[in-house]
Amino acid sequence: MSSTVVCIGFMGAGKTTAARSAARALGVEAVDVDAVIEQRLGKPVARVFAEDGEAAFRATEERVTLELLEPGPPRVLSLGGGAVGSDAVIRALAEHTVIWIDVDVDSAWTRSRGGARPLARDRATFARLYAEREPLYSGLADATVPAARSRTMAPVLAALEDLPPQSKLLWAASASDYPAYIGPGILSWWPAERVPGRRFLVTDGRVAALYGDALAPLAGRVSIMPGEQSKTIAHAEIVWTELARAGVTREDVIVALGGGVVGDLAGFCAATYQRGVRYVQVPTTLVAQVDSAYGGKTGVDLPEAKNYIGAYHQPAAVLADSKALATLPAEELAAGYAEVVKTALIAGGQLWQRVRAGAKPTDLELIRWCALTKLRVVARDERDTGLREVLNLGHTVGHAIETATGYARYRHGEAVGLGLLAALRLSEQPALREEVRDLFAARGLPITLDGADPDAVVMATARDKKRRDGHVPFVLLDSPGRPRPGCPVSSRDLIAAVRELAP
Ligand SMILES: NC(=O)c1ccc[n+]([C@@H]2O[C@H](COP(=O)([O-])OP(=O)(O)OC[C@H]3O[C@@H](n4cnc5c(N)ncnc54)[C@H](O)[C@@H]3O)[C@@H](O)[C@H]2O)c1
Repeated sequence: MSSTVVCIGFMGAGKTTAARSAARALGVEAVDVDAVIEQRLGKPVARVFAEDGEAAFRATEERVTLELLEPGPPRVLSLGGGAVGSDAVIRALAEHTVIWIDVDVDSAWTRSRGGARPLARDRATFARLYAEREPLYSGLADATVPAARSRTMAPVLAALEDLPPQSKLLWAASASDYPAYIGPGILSWWPAERVPGRRFLVTDGRVAALYGDALAPLAGRVSIMPGEQSKTIAHAEIVWTELARAGVTREDVIVALGGGVVGDLAGFCAATYQRGVRYVQVPTTLVAQVDSAYGGKTGVDLPEAKNYIGAYHQPAAVLADSKALATLPAEELAAGYAEVVKTALIAGGQLWQRVRAGAKPTDLELIRWCALTKLRVVARDERDTGLREVLNLGHTVGHAIETATGYARYRHGEAVGLGLLAALRLSEQPALREEVRDLFAARGLPITLDGADPDAVVMATARDKKRRDGHVPFVLLDSPGRPRPGCPVSSRDLIAAVRELAP
């Protein structure tokens, strides 16, 4: 970590609060750049805007910010929300530890409107500025911290210690917060003191051969057969038994090294073994790095229905090593791409723009955006009581396809891709459906339902665990960025959407 820590973020995020909290933790001074500007100019920012204009304010802001970013005594700065609009400031920030205090646009507006902030007077302008600046903050941040944690920065700073270059930290706010590290080579970085305890590895045979030794020293290990067919209660029993034989206690930590199957199974075993032990997700597939490793949903399948047995159990940390994707077979990468597209459709904005412009699925920034999107949703609804349902876009039909084909015909991501196409048909979005279908086809993902009976898929949909009062609510999409959960869908429309997938 550099000697200067810099808090950036949009209006109303709580940068000043975060800077004070971080400064307290480090025993250094907190400096608010806007306050310095006001002191130098002898008037509040609002009056500078009114009397001298925004351009004059920005020139002063750039000069003062650059001056405070010069080498000096250790301190924590909070920058003005628009300071990152200056290329010179962006260049100077490269030398420092940058923490983005991430606030959603609605909370930012509620906190900022009607106050002294000159750029928080009109909702539409405010939202446009937010959309413009968000990618700048994201690109600059070494760590992203939800606004709700701006008062408690000490654990974030501890988690940032010795972070390898190019790696970034996303701070996950949940009932028990945890750090999610994403970057090349992060797999072999994990220092023992981060999540103390003896490590017991749960992995699959393929991943064990590739990366099983990277997390040594290990107190023990168990390898399951690769693939969805290992996500069963029988395999959970194998893992529980091995944990007991190795003498694993609540002081120890289970390490889930692999894709979503290993993550879900190992997480479930961690949630239930001795009524709960800590576990760390070390995702090695794209599906797991963009989605399944975060959020604490763990579980196994039944032959009757997918993910029917499980528990919410948040990981103690996530370590997503983008280098591990280099060994992933092309079909698995494509399966992960379906989850990327799903996430981009939920998030809209610049994530969707990147995806539709053809961003590579292994692009580090893309992976981080997907992870951040998921963490933002989960932070607001950890136990799936409403909002989190949006993450299920495409999954109702997707899961039904997996169940109806005995978890053997399609990879999870492939089934989700087909489910997304069905969801877009149900959403009456023909142009978007075509665009998404073309994106999938270009990556080699299946775009038709082969080897599965559409009627069996419709039947399996009825067993979805979201079923309430005899109806399965669907997530539909009004437009990218505007998912609508809890939508009723008639059997006739569902049958038509699934049959449309037939070759
Ligand atoms: N818990 C959640 O929130 C959540 C979210 C999305 C998906 N999921 C679950 O995730 C599962 C699908 O996960 P998946 O797509 O990662 O499948 P997976 O775990 O079966 O992995 C796919 C294959 O890739 C291999 N593999 C893994 N990493 C590799 C690497 N780096 N190099 C070479 N090979 C590698 C594995 O051995 C396996 O054969 C499903 O069961 C799904 O329900 C869970």
